[in-house]
Amino acid sequence: MANTDLQKKLYGYIEKGITELKIPGIPESLYAPYSYTMSIGGKRIRPYLVLLSSGICDGRIVDAMPAALAVEILHNFTLVHDDIMDSADTRRGKPSVFKKWDQNTAILSGDVMFADAFKQLEYYGRNDNFSKAAYFQIHKTFTDATITVCEGQALDMDFVHRTDVDHFEYTEMIKGKTSALLACSLKMGAIAALATKEQADSLYNLGMEMGIAFQIQDDLLDVTADPDKFGKTVCGDIYEGKKTYLTILALERSNQQQRQTIETVLADPNPKKKSVEEVLDIMKDLNVISDIQNEVGQHYENAINSLDFFKDSEYKQQLKNLLIFLKNRDH
Ligand code: IPE
Ligand code: IPE
Ligand code: MG
Ligand code: MG
Ligand code: MG
Repeated sequence: MANTDLQKKLYGYIEKGITELKIPGIPESLYAPYSYTMSIGGKRIRPYLVLLSSGICDGRIVDAMPAALAVEILHNFTLVHDDIMDSADTRRGKPSVFKKWDQNTAILSGDVMFADAFKQLEYYGRNDNFSKAAYFQIHKTFTDATITVCEGQALDMDFVHRTDVDHFEYTEMIKGKTSALLACSLKMGAIAALATKEQADSLYNLGMEMGIAFQIQDDLLDVTADPDKFGKTVCGDIYEGKKTYLTILALERSNQQQRQTIETVLADPNPKKKSVEEVLDIMKDLNVISDIQNEVGQHYENAINSLDFFKDSEYKQQLKNLLIFLKNRDH
């Protein structure tokens, strides 16, 4: 992504806002994991979306910052609990909270992060620029997205025990687990800018398209990414027997023999490289990879085209650049 002055400025505000969160020091077991999680990196896509969306709707950065911090804290909370649920030892290349401390510590630190995310929204309740209706809208957008993320996460966990998940159900799951918070970020930026309902809704829809593309691409990159740049094991999802858009579509299209191969490899806790390659070959034969590549591209195109609704601005251009960058990423 071209590093424009605007992008640098916005990322500067986000990092400053996070540094100035004033996370207390005591009790240390509660707050140290919170500070740790917020400080170990992450792409900060969600707060960036809040600020871009606000700018697209002619809002002030100062009014968008509390919403930007709220979504990033909430996102980080979901990751702290997600790593417990997924038994994931690392996050952003560092030990996950429950690994570094323990499970109970991760649960309670996550809880305080959840509450602190909502606390950021008090800004809109006490600021005279925001009517009661605007405060209600911003609060509702955030609460609704939080509930939808939990629903998506629940489906994700339910799917682990099922063998009959189809790609429609899978898409509903990722709309919850991933798209809802991206869409919420864009909508909150619009409301913080006191934008019209049409503007807020079209940014929300853009975020849903972007989220679907982002998560399906995450599944796709697992098999197509350049191993030198990926930072994770290529085909890691297949080795771990995870249900992804690729495996679901492959199972839907496979004949009995192919299905048996895929199911056996996914169920094997330690599959051989050769068996994983067999699954890859089946995916290629069934056009799974190329069709999903087209689908991801189409969702990003839909998101980019929906920007036509907005007048040209540096913020709009920057959001377009972000979508193009994501569309073309190879790791
Ligand atoms: C990871 O999100 C979890 C998903 C919903 C896909 P990100 O890829 O935005 O994670 P960070 O914040 O950059 O680490
Ligand atoms: C994380 O999904 C989604 C939420 C925490 C809501 P994943 O479990 O797929 O994300 P990663 O792969 O751990 O980042
Ligand atoms: Mg996970
Ligand atoms: Mg998970
Ligand atoms: Mg993943």
